[in-house]
Amino acid sequence: MKSSPWWKEATIYQIYPRSYFDSNGDGEGDLPGITSKLEYVKSLGVDAIWLSPFYTSPNKDGGYDVANPRDVDPRFGNLADAKQMIDVAHELDLRVLVDIVPNHFSDQHVWFQEALKAGRGSLERARFHFYDANTDGTPPNNWISLFGGPSWTQVEDGQFYLHLFDSSQPDLNWDNPDVDEDFEKTLRFWLDLGADGFRIDVAHGLVKEDVLKDHPDPQGLSDALRLDMPMDPERRYALLPTVPYFDRQGVHEIYRKWRAIFNSYGSRDVMAVAEAWVHPPVNATRYVRPDELHQVFNFDLLDASFNAEQLYRLMSGALDLMKSVEALPTWALSNHDSPRVASRIGEIESRALALFVLALPGSCYVFAGQELGLPDGVIPDESRQDPIYFRTKGAQKGRDGARVPLPWNGETAPFGFTSGSPWLPLQDSWKELTVEKQESDPKSVLNLYRNALNLRAEHLVNNGEVEWIESPTHGSKSESLLAFKRGNVSVYMNLANSPVEVQVSGKLLVVSAGTVDGRDGKVTIPPVSTLWLHH
Ligand code: GLC
Ligand code: CA
Repeated sequence: MKSSPWWKEATIYQIYPRSYFDSNGDGEGDLPGITSKLEYVKSLGVDAIWLSPFYTSPNKDGGYDVANPRDVDPRFGNLADAKQMIDVAHELDLRVLVDIVPNHFSDQHVWFQEALKAGRGSLERARFHFYDANTDGTPPNNWISLFGGPSWTQVEDGQFYLHLFDSSQPDLNWDNPDVDEDFEKTLRFWLDLGADGFRIDVAHGLVKEDVLKDHPDPQGLSDALRLDMPMDPERRYALLPTVPYFDRQGVHEIYRKWRAIFNSYGSRDVMAVAEAWVHPPVNATRYVRPDELHQVFNFDLLDASFNAEQLYRLMSGALDLMKSVEALPTWALSNHDSPRVASRIGEIESRALALFVLALPGSCYVFAGQELGLPDGVIPDESRQDPIYFRTKGAQKGRDGARVPLPWNGETAPFGFTSGSPWLPLQDSWKELTVEKQESDPKSVLNLYRNALNLRAEHLVNNGEVEWIESPTHGSKSESLLAFKRGNVSVYMNLANSPVEVQVSGKLLVVSAGTVDGRDGKVTIPPVSTLWLHH
């Protein structure tokens, strides 16, 4: 029945390998651990998994500092384990996306080590952005790292190298043909091993302009790029298009080449999704032109409030934007870089929002643990690992809270995640959140996701566009009600703390919380709840 490609309306489950399941008791999740849980993954009803990096890495930035992109870090296993994981996933009819990190390498990558030795003016240094200091000894420009502090670090002979992130993550120079060639090798390497595609890290950052020019307002720019930093929207929107290292036209040439590589795998239906934070939003559509990538992340919901007006604006905006290029949006409520949705907007709210989003057209990305309603971990400062915490000298706590290991079973932490001591602490208070507990509770978040994903596949995927029924611009009967119809399903979300009665009839498919009362062509939607009705 499904004629469009698998990824068009897929649900893609993001696994943070270090936190999924530890198979050997060293306290860190690993590839054999993931493989052993793929039946569970399959039971959720997702179509694919995306794994954050598991490549050789000194792990200064959670593996996004890659020292060898074509090998597995021993903490996660080895290449045979990767192959085994991919094969088992395929047997279960799950696709596998791996992360590719083309903006930078680790300073432990052999290229960077060679560049340090080879010295100024060498071919080895030309693969990165090495420049001499200004005459007054300052770095080549005044850019600020996205992790805080200067984006230049000086090496022994006095030259500086550029790093948009941590000093252990030197940016690659994409004007250098070696870089291009090496990434083609890496793409083919994973595709040949069986991967079905890629999540492209910092996809908008590869090409830099004016590397030797100061930005007129580097601090403003750095603040504008931080979503958690309050800023006058006008100022933010004026600053964002001036970023000299993001969303430059040159990146699209790279993705055209990559698309040709993907297409050369023919019926394998290889796909790639770009992590591209761009402004204005219309620029995102360029990444999904027919000869470029398949999807681009839409991060709007990661920091949206639980507010009907705002959610309507963001959702309808994303749908309209992507429609203008005959594409579908992607949706994400959590990932490894942002606070978990259950902590950010509340447990019951996150259920309602998830059920609403899972009915929308497009692909849904679900961050492992989200299906358990997992909150952020409480991380003692001495356990923190995120370079953001260190580079800002503790001013920003960083992203470790979202990266806590999953609770699987048992009554006490670490809840079966490891037989050893977990790399980040799990909370004792999670004992009702384990997979084991939730499997046996029909009203658990886990079973809500399972039901919703099954029903989504049955009734919604490839089943037409959204027609809004209740929204701030459709004469909604309540400021706290959003509803749309898609195919034969109507989806209602009541954001208020009191029930709402609407005039509609149909068979109840699923509800995120509470008890639904329906008779005489009327349905009462419980407080803070979403329901799907079938007509
Ligand atoms: C992306 C990743 C993030 C990482 C950064 C640098 O934003 O999602 O985790 O720190 O790139 O590679
Ligand atoms: Ca392990």
